[in-house]
Amino acid sequence: MAVIIFKRRFALFLVLLLIFLFIMLLSQGYFCSNMDIDEEVKWVSKKVLELSAKERRLQLQEERLLHLEKELNKSYSNSAVSMLKQQQSFIKDLPTIYAITPTYARCVQKAELTRLSQTFLHVRNFHWIVVEDAVEKTPLVTNFLRNCGLIYTHLNIATPEDHKLQENDPNWLKPRGVLQRNIALKWLRDNLDVDNKQGVVYFADDDNTYDLKLFDEMRSTKQVSVWPVGLVGALRYESPVVHNGKVTGWFTYWKPERPFAMDMAGFAINLQLMLKNPQANFKIRVPRGYQESELLKHLVTMQDLEPKAENCSKVLVWHTRTEKPKLKNEDKLKKTGQQSDPDIEV
Ligand SMILES: *[C@@H]1O[C@H](CO)[C@@H](O)[C@H](O)[C@H]1NC(C)=O
Repeated sequence: MAVIIFKRRFALFLVLLLIFLFIMLLSQGYFCSNMDIDEEVKWVSKKVLELSAKERRLQLQEERLLHLEKELNKSYSNSAVSMLKQQQSFIKDLPTIYAITPTYARCVQKAELTRLSQTFLHVRNFHWIVVEDAVEKTPLVTNFLRNCGLIYTHLNIATPEDHKLQENDPNWLKPRGVLQRNIALKWLRDNLDVDNKQGVVYFADDDNTYDLKLFDEMRSTKQVSVWPVGLVGALRYESPVVHNGKVTGWFTYWKPERPFAMDMAGFAINLQLMLKNPQANFKIRVPRGYQESELLKHLVTMQDLEPKAENCSKVLVWHTRTEKPKLKNEDKLKKTGQQSDPDIEV
């Protein structure tokens, strides 16, 4: 806008300068000797006309720009997500948090992703890697991500049928999200520069609840940082046990002898460390509860762990679970042909 106004002023200034010069030269008798005054007058007035036409065009352009600016402001103020998107510009020298979220189609999926993304929108230098357990990327997740306002990478890989959880299986029976997390790690290794990129990798499942402070805590992870997780393992919380600032064991009811008896939400890994150890992955066939240990054994020892959240005394993430909604009335309506509109995405 400033450029347009400047151009207009400049054009005006040019016109005045030309007229002034002309008068000056005229009064000096400059043109008398070799040019016809009448012709000069014609030439100058032609130029003046040209310039004023130009000025008019600039004026119109300026009006158009003002209009566009207004429209833009209107659409921004109409959209909270767009406002947040503006803030998503990355800050230099602040390590990026790469949050890996496996997800699968179910009736609460969009609600979970919405809740999650609107927490993440408040986190600076954040890159969300969403991996669908699906043969193809679904329109629901594709459209959701396009409009969520976050920097994201959308991947997909289907868990083979024989590994998939059946409807009535307890959710610990088969490992969930294994291939999805691994493909996300592969993406990081294939796409990020080992030597340059400062960052942290975190496995952020779509059913947990995250305090924003957690992301401040994990951002300074040098190798692997750890903290308590609330409402997990049939306890109020599970946590690394910390003595004199060092992890010495695990507060958990279930299998405390595991090398790293932690929930997936209870640790973050330095990006460099992750990239430099391509052997560190999850495995389909490991005993129940050993996925975390399977990955971490390639990266650190218990002594190297960095306790966060005030020496593991604060709970900043909860293993909340959304209740599976009962849609029995939907089925009843279906029988009478009055079911809800399938075009309305839920
Ligand atoms: C954690 O514990 C260590 C050793 O007791 C102490 O020096 C440090 O200040 C504690 N850190 C926090 C954040 O409380």
